[in-house]
Amino acid sequence: MKTVKIGGTNWTSSNVALGIMRMGTLAVADCARAIEAAHAAGINFFDSADIYGNDPVLGRGSSEIHFGQALKQTGLSRDDFYFQSKAGLYANADNKITRYDSSRDHLLKAVDGILQRTGVEYLDSLVIHRPDALMDPAEVAVAFDKLQASGKVRHFGVSNFNPAQVALLQSALSQRLLVDQVQFGLKHTGMIDYDFHTNMTDDGSINHDGGLLDYCRLHQMTIQTWSPFQYGTFAGTFINNDRFPKLNDQLAQLATKYQVSKNAIALAWILRHPARMQVLIGTMNPTHIADSAAGSDITLTRQEWYDLYLAAGNELP
Ligand SMILES: NC(=O)c1ccc[n+]([C@@H]2O[C@H](COP(=O)([O-])OP(=O)(O)OC[C@H]3O[C@@H](n4cnc5c(N)ncnc54)[C@H](OP(=O)(O)O)[C@@H]3O)[C@@H](O)[C@H]2O)c1
Repeated sequence: MKTVKIGGTNWTSSNVALGIMRMGTLAVADCARAIEAAHAAGINFFDSADIYGNDPVLGRGSSEIHFGQALKQTGLSRDDFYFQSKAGLYANADNKITRYDSSRDHLLKAVDGILQRTGVEYLDSLVIHRPDALMDPAEVAVAFDKLQASGKVRHFGVSNFNPAQVALLQSALSQRLLVDQVQFGLKHTGMIDYDFHTNMTDDGSINHDGGLLDYCRLHQMTIQTWSPFQYGTFAGTFINNDRFPKLNDQLAQLATKYQVSKNAIALAWILRHPARMQVLIGTMNPTHIADSAAGSDITLTRQEWYDLYLAAGNELP
């Protein structure tokens, strides 16, 4: 398992992390098996969010409750893993997001909730889940200072922020934002497509995120890639999906060459990018976890990387 220095600091973590979004309705014993499989594969970073899981009995945040219970079953000690969670979304009982909330009080309360649900003593990092039009950077700064001074949170980051939003928030903070968490994978390549189409007028030339990839590289922020195996937003996985025959043929060829799974190749494709991203996988299946993690050690050739990009349905001008 290769590592990444988060945000260019000395904080070194596995470059594959396990997201716990799908633990909310899973039996605790299965959550424990997922954690153990991740640990055995060299994954030492878990990503969460306060809103993950909405179990009918446990309610909102059930992923973190299950994660905390499962952690105890595994016997892992706090030094064995890094734990990151996100806050700033508010969902109602019908599972609808009704507001973003990065107010001071919301963030402080959210962190207390995360620590209480998981039983984890502190967060290695807290990430603002989504940009909030009503966000006041000075107010976030007060919350971050309090959270760091109390020892509840060590580092901070953002998710789904564009460069201008990062810069605005960063201008008020005493801590450096270390990560931006965005969707990226073989079927979600907007972050690089427009690079190939500079000064053209086709769809590929549309810059959807304000140059986030280059911005993060320039400012040494680690891009954490969510839903690496999904097409669309939560539409399903492209792996072994008949809708994507060319991509699956290409993945299968490389899987045979490197003696690994298609998941590993899809993951290696993300990690081949010199931005040194960290991939957040969300499978809860121990075999899929081990299969995917194996991609950390594969280095695709330049041509293989481009072959996969093209097989995913993209064009090069
Ligand atoms: N910041 C944000 O806004 C945001 C948004 C979404 C997610 N996230 C983070 O990203 C993490 C990962 O998201 P994700 O779960 O959508 O990622 P993912 O790893 O792309 O998708 C996991 C899903 O794909 C399935 N899958 C994977 N490999 C498969 C295979 N070979 N065959 C069949 N099914 C396969 C899994 O099923 P099995 O369990 O059966 O393998 C699971 O349903 C989350 O846990 C969360 O931490 C962040």
